[in-house]
Amino acid sequence: MQQKIKDIREEFLKNLQKISTPKEAENLKIRFIGRNGKVTQLLKEIKNVLSAERPLIGNLINELKKEISQSINQCFLALSGEVKQENGGDITLPGKFSALGHLHPITQVINQIEDIFRNLNFRIVDGSEIETEYYNFEALNIPLNHPSRDAFDTFYLKPPSHPATQSPVTRKQKTEAQKKIKDCKLLLRSQTSTVQIRVMEKEKPPLRIISAGKVYRPDATDASHSCMFHQVEGFMVDKEVNFTHLKGILSLFIKEMFGKDVQMRFRPHYFPFTEPSAEVDISCILCQGKGCSVCKNKGWLEILGAGMINPRVLERVGYDPDKISGFAFGMGVERIAMLKFNIQDIRLFFENDIRFLKQF
Ligand code: DAH
Repeated sequence: MQQKIKDIREEFLKNLQKISTPKEAENLKIRFIGRNGKVTQLLKEIKNVLSAERPLIGNLINELKKEISQSINQCFLALSGEVKQENGGDITLPGKFSALGHLHPITQVINQIEDIFRNLNFRIVDGSEIETEYYNFEALNIPLNHPSRDAFDTFYLKPPSHPATQSPVTRKQKTEAQKKIKDCKLLLRSQTSTVQIRVMEKEKPPLRIISAGKVYRPDATDASHSCMFHQVEGFMVDKEVNFTHLKGILSLFIKEMFGKDVQMRFRPHYFPFTEPSAEVDISCILCQGKGCSVCKNKGWLEILGAGMINPRVLERVGYDPDKISGFAFGMGVERIAMLKFNIQDIRLFFENDIRFLKQF
């Protein structure tokens, strides 16, 4: 039996030398240690060996099986290495890493603003980018003759895109659909303040809402104007909400967003949907208020508009302005991102130049 083991080993080694392809290696493996292979056969014959010799013979057969298995594996490795080498590759080299992307700087700033307000118990709400004249203007107390109503300041949509015109069946339905379009001209919203009306119409106070999204204005594109940009609108309505709440919330926000040492000031302003209204400035974060080219030597940067929600707006959504009051504020995300990251040209955000985006 020992001789037989030796012979099989020698036969295997001889055959191993002739192997030149992985397929041949596979066949050799099957011939020797496969289910009906020569070594497997030996193991079956062990019952014929004297019981005293069985442990030794068993050991020898197992050793041979192990040796054959290892040799075949090495043979596989060598052969596949050779194949790869012929194709110009080296399987021992480390793998290739592909660069991991990250969020767009505008998205990062929106996320940061949302996080700050979420911690102040504000709820995040989404609004539609397509709106009617009513929600973009009328309900926000922007009268018909207000300059921002002018077609030049707003992108109006062609009537056929309104759902009411979709396959009207009869002439009567068609006339009705056309009348509906006249009643509600569609446009791309020019401010996220529309969300105030959408939410207040549906829900009762107390409300603390924050809503970020795209707005559109037909401005000529330059370093500080883009016909599409992002705004964040926030508002709070409840019994007895007053200006000090607005100041408190905004001062917390500004310190979180720009740093503890940043100063804030309110300048009286006019917005149709708030009364009283203010523009809010922060001390220049680049020169700490000393005066530089970014703040045009003023030491202050305007960053948002705010005020107490106009009682007329509250009435429109069915609230009683004698019982309910609220504040609102709105800010441009690109402006904040430009100040935070010291970027001089708004267009960089939308050109998708990877060299620019990589920096954030
Ligand atoms: N909607 C204003 C704009 O687009 C920004 C704004 C100002 C929003 C004052 C407000 C506010 O809620 O109170 O310029």
